[in-house]
Amino acid sequence: VATLHVPLDRGKPVALAKQIQGHLERLIREGHLGDGVKLPATRELAKSLGVNRATVALAYEEMVAAGHARAHVGQGTFVIGTAAAPRTAAEPRARAPINWTGLLSRTARVVAAEEDRWRRLGSGDADRVAVSFAGGMPDSDLFPTEAFRQVLNRVLREEGDVLLQYYPARGYPPLRQYLARYLLRFGVEASPDEILIVNGSQQGFDLVARTFLDPGDFVAVEQPTYPRAVQVFRAAGAQLLAVPWTREGPRPDVLERLLERHRPKLFYCQPNCHNPTGLSLAPETGRRLLALGARAEVPIVEVGVDPSLYYGRRPATPLKALDGDGVVIYIGTFSKILFPGLRLGWVVASAPVIERLLGAKQLVDLHTSALLQAAVQRFCERRLLDRHASRVAAEYGQRRTALVESLRRRMPEGVTWTEAEGGFSLLVTLPAGLDAAALLPAAIARGVAFTPGRPFFVDGGGERTLRLSFSAVPARRIDDGVRRLAETIKTAMKRPRASSGDRAAVPVV
Ligand SMILES: Cc1ncc(COP(=O)(O)O)c(C=O)c1O
Repeated sequence: VATLHVPLDRGKPVALAKQIQGHLERLIREGHLGDGVKLPATRELAKSLGVNRATVALAYEEMVAAGHARAHVGQGTFVIGTAAAPRTAAEPRARAPINWTGLLSRTARVVAAEEDRWRRLGSGDADRVAVSFAGGMPDSDLFPTEAFRQVLNRVLREEGDVLLQYYPARGYPPLRQYLARYLLRFGVEASPDEILIVNGSQQGFDLVARTFLDPGDFVAVEQPTYPRAVQVFRAAGAQLLAVPWTREGPRPDVLERLLERHRPKLFYCQPNCHNPTGLSLAPETGRRLLALGARAEVPIVEVGVDPSLYYGRRPATPLKALDGDGVVIYIGTFSKILFPGLRLGWVVASAPVIERLLGAKQLVDLHTSALLQAAVQRFCERRLLDRHASRVAAEYGQRRTALVESLRRRMPEGVTWTEAEGGFSLLVTLPAGLDAAALLPAAIARGVAFTPGRPFFVDGGGERTLRLSFSAVPARRIDDGVRRLAETIKTAMKRPRASSGDRAAVPVV
């Protein structure tokens, strides 16, 4: 560290060197200064504290003598760390600690309760299994990291001064122009003014919720669905109404009934590459949902996960492509097709809606990183995204086929699954009497992990379901994973009911 603040009390009958030593040793004990950290040069620290250099030198010598630091001639003094020992009850603070829980906002309480529920679906280590079908994310082994590094370097060199300054919230114009052209591939017609760049689709959900929801409002939600979107609506105080999926998509008859009875403010769905099922909307169902939304003037929030990740014959047309009435708010992301760590996505909606979302975005974070937007735009313009997308789509398609074939071969009677046509995952349903979360510890013990299906169901159901994500598992590992899972299920089916004691954690994405 270059320098440190050390509070000194010159009125205290304790030598300044002792005060400095005491303070630094406490920082070491509590883990703020870890093993090997170089302490400030005596001259620097003495100057910033307004003490004699010899005073600091004495403090350091005492620390060395006490075994808290080591001195290397000509290099400086370095911390000898202890394992961080957080403050214990034996070291009470001067005042009682604040009751933070009691101070939490309603939103924070809703979020905490949900995270808690998800955590209770397990505790354990799903990362160290032989085959993990948990976590719906791209395979980082397929990332085009080097190609991206090159465009990033270049853009930094060419436009760094502008891109590292504060930037207009709407987003980097060339990226919005690119997206306007790109979306035409899927039939979505939007001008750059109808596109807002956001920090991943997650921010899109948040901006929509901030803009349209008040506590107590109803939101109709496809079921099963993507839990992180629903969590945003719940945190905004919305009451959720489930519209169950069939093979063709969310049931229009149910949506119609809910629209009449509850007048929800929004309807949320993923027509393509659906997480967790991998299914797509049948065109006729899409048209009916759209007509219902338009008639009731209820916006449809559509997550347009990139149809490039489609393994069936043809992806469903995005609802936004059929949206003559402008009722659809389309949210897209680079997370699945490129890198989730960029946190880069976009919202397409009519200009007045974009204006309001823009206001909300400025409130939240002023703008999305212009540097990353520019790098991605260059990456796309040079057709590197297209090349990457076709490569990963082929790879994920193989993994999907390997999984489906293996399930067919190995799963016992009574287990069913969705035949994913796109996306990263499919949803398995276990025979009656089994609980997927209860099965997870046994599965992990056998070397395979999955995501229990409960969080994907807004009505509290789904305990017999589990999501298998195939995107990050190399094809040659898939059959082994399914074998382990099938054995776990067969063993559980022999018992009347699986134990719900131990739980094992997997991330919900
Ligand atoms: C339906 C859906 N939307 C969005 C995302 C990704 O969100 P983001 O763009 O915030 O990374 C996921 C990731 O799993 C998803 O399944």
